[in-house]
Amino acid sequence: MKHLIDPMDLTKEELDQIIALAEDIIANREKYQEIQAHRKLATLFYEPSTRTRLSFTAAMMELGGNVLGFSDAKSSSVSKGESVQDTVRVVGCFADVIAMRHYIEGAQLYASEVSKVPIINAGDGSHSHPTQTLTDLLTIQRELGRIDGITIGFCGDLRFGRTVHSLIKALSRYKDIRVVLIAPDELKLPDYIKQDVCDRLGIRYREVSSMEEVISELDVLYMTRVQKERFLDQDEFDRVKDSFVLDAAKMSLAKEKMAVLHPLPRVNEILTEVDADPRAAYFRQVENGKFVRMALMTKLIEWKDDPAHAMPAHEIPVTDPSLRCPNPRCICNNEHAPYRFRRSGSGTLRCWYCDAKAK
Ligand code: CP
Repeated sequence: MKHLIDPMDLTKEELDQIIALAEDIIANREKYQEIQAHRKLATLFYEPSTRTRLSFTAAMMELGGNVLGFSDAKSSSVSKGESVQDTVRVVGCFADVIAMRHYIEGAQLYASEVSKVPIINAGDGSHSHPTQTLTDLLTIQRELGRIDGITIGFCGDLRFGRTVHSLIKALSRYKDIRVVLIAPDELKLPDYIKQDVCDRLGIRYREVSSMEEVISELDVLYMTRVQKERFLDQDEFDRVKDSFVLDAAKMSLAKEKMAVLHPLPRVNEILTEVDADPRAAYFRQVENGKFVRMALMTKLIEWKDDPAHAMPAHEIPVTDPSLRCPNPRCICNNEHAPYRFRRSGSGTLRCWYCDAKAK
């Protein structure tokens, strides 16, 4: 069975198939309006969402299927202490596919270990957001006509921005990608993405501290919100919250064909004066999210019993009773997930569930 927990769970061929199907759905919507009739999606959202939850819901409805679930875990038996593994065991009796968002990192991976239906990670803390990645890839493809060979600037909160982490991973599947990281010191990209993804998989990147310095080189500018909810220190958030603001003056320095993406919601990192610029793709990106989720669910349901689409073979986890995951927001420090680690390309032991460096 294929779950989508991390973007690297999909091979390049599977990614291509999902994006091609999304394009066909956009071109031929009536052809797909009954293909999931009598099937059910469960949306289990332990953290707020507008786009992801509603686009999953709209996606399943447009495929002729039905949706059940919760948007506030307090209204479920989670409030009585039910674990994520028990929750998906139960919900798997009612639904054909589950989309789960959780503020705890690694929750979906842990849930997938016992699930009898495909689990889709709809965002886990500041770790990963692979369905946003599919949305972003489809948007880049539709805006620029290609993904190979692009120069993409990621700007803002690269530390807590799960969409950035996932998209960089997925871009390692494409050719000749250049990444420019535009962030203040406090919000730089985590080392595990730089070392285990960019260095190991050959993505060229450089770090800069000014948007004006690089905007003219970019094919894609990927703006992000500074993620207030992930900061443990309010003063630190106040220092960095307005680090980068995209306005019409900066857009005048960019290529005529550059696409501006943002996973949204935005706060004030893109002024509304940019919205009318034809290069502002972020609302088209939202709609692409529905189509690509239609394609993803269709493929995961189709692939469920096909051994050719199993999860990738993971390495054997390292277990050592003296090692702990230091991340208080990791599933292994919140439920009974075991302390397990994987040895990264650089030799560092990292948490199986959240990628934090073992202590
Ligand atoms: N992009 C995104 O994940 O938005 P929501 O938090 O509204 O789902």
